[in-house]
Amino acid sequence: MAIERTLSIIKPDGVKKNAIGNILNRFEKAGLRIKAMKLVQLSMAEAQGFYAVHKARPFFGELCEFMASGPVVISVLEGENAINKNRELMGATDPAKADAGTIRKDLANSIGENTVHGSDGADTAKTEIAYFFAETELVN
Ligand code: CMP
Repeated sequence: MAIERTLSIIKPDGVKKNAIGNILNRFEKAGLRIKAMKLVQLSMAEAQGFYAVHKARPFFGELCEFMASGPVVISVLEGENAINKNRELMGATDPAKADAGTIRKDLANSIGENTVHGSDGADTAKTEIAYFFAETELVN
């Protein structure tokens, strides 16, 4: 299987719940390695840019306001099948539909405040990683 990189964001609700360690532990236990990481508060413009693909959706404003409402932890995860592995660890977008034992089932309150974001494919991963990290910020 190919070694991949994916972008992960622990959203403001995850940080507020003091669940950073809980979530990172799941990544590490699944064999994903952290190649870059930062704790930051996004501006509205940064959140809007990141989620630009959802610009036309009715929840876009709410989503960006939430993402800029408090600190987030942004990281690059690397490992075999990292993109899908991270998506499996996160569970379905809507926590009510997420499988038992997933991050969203265990920690998230709603589809809007769903604790984590993860890239949904190889192209998205590339774009999302480049949105937040320069190539020189990734360790080898
Ligand atoms: P995420 O994986 O970060 O990608 C886009 C986000 O939009 C998604 O998680 C949800 O938090 C949010 N989202 C998707 N659908 C809805 C919805 N119907 N209502 C509110 N937020 C949504």
